[in-house]
Amino acid sequence: MTRVERLRKRTSSGLALGIALVAIGFGYSAVAPSSSAQDDGLSVEAMAGQEIYENGCITCHGRNLEGVEDQGPPLIGVGEASVYFQVSTGRMPLKQQEAQAQRKTPVYDDAEVNQLMAFIETYGGGPELPTEEDLRDGELAEGGELFRLNCASCHNFAGRGGALSSGKNAPALDQSSDLDIYTAMLSGPQNMPVFGDNQLTPENKRAIINYVQTLKDTSDPGGLSIGRAGPVPEGLIIWIVGIAGCVIACFWVGTRS
Ligand code: HEC
Ligand code: HEC
Repeated sequence: MTRVERLRKRTSSGLALGIALVAIGFGYSAVAPSSSAQDDGLSVEAMAGQEIYENGCITCHGRNLEGVEDQGPPLIGVGEASVYFQVSTGRMPLKQQEAQAQRKTPVYDDAEVNQLMAFIETYGGGPELPTEEDLRDGELAEGGELFRLNCASCHNFAGRGGALSSGKNAPALDQSSDLDIYTAMLSGPQNMPVFGDNQLTPENKRAIINYVQTLKDTSDPGGLSIGRAGPVPEGLIIWIVGIAGCVIACFWVGTRS
């Protein structure tokens, strides 16, 4: 072997060793159990969400969103819409187990809701928030029709809510924002069915929202409201007031003569 040959051999084996080391390094990082797969590559927003989750949600929904028996359901793949609906209507975090999560003053602000959504999304996505700014640009008449068809059976034709079986109820819609209504349809909380975009297109949804919100804004086009109790109690009240009026009139006539 010449000197040159020996030198070349040494450098090539050095190169081979280097390549082997790098390959082992990559191989190891690929098979090594990382402490938590979810720790890696989280956005700043999702990391902030993880912190909120660990303080406020983990006891009922589990370390890996897998759910906890008798405490809370899994949240894997529930989607932004569900998280938005539950947290921004104040239903979550739940305080104690009850028949139904109730609307409460929200614990977290919009930024924190975004962080929670970002974190929960990292475990798999579901229905997302709508991207349109204006969620009530649909046809009013069409919205009314769709509402009576799809929603009125539980929420009452005027959106006043109603009782369901076993202590549950469909709430009145008078506190719901446009986005609350949209995300309720997308996520179908509790006993409410999911209205995916196949059942109700985004245009249908906006028409329904327009109808629900218009219903709230207009002040009783059909005469006296009397709590929108309906024609029978309204008639009763008019009757009682009327009778009282007659009696007073009789006394008045009587004292005059
Ligand atoms: C005390 C237990 C408890 C705590 C704490 C709690 N949850 Fe829940 N969560 C529940 C229960 C129970 C349900 C099912 C409620 C229902 O169906 O009415 C639920 C439902 C949900 C849902 C709907 C799941 C679906 O299938 O659409 C979301 C989203 C959710 N929780 C998010 C959160 C977040 C985020 C937090 C923390 C900020 C949190 N929860 C804290 C018990 C809890
Ligand atoms: C089978 C009965 C049922 C039908 C049909 C139904 N819902 Fe619901 N809805 C519910 C129940 C039950 C809740 C309460 C869920 C909870 O508290 O977790 C609810 C909650 C809601 C809320 C949240 C109210 C709040 O607190 O702000 C909105 C908004 C809503 N529904 C809109 C609709 C719309 C719009 C439709 C029609 C497209 C509809 N729902 C159809 C049963 C129903």
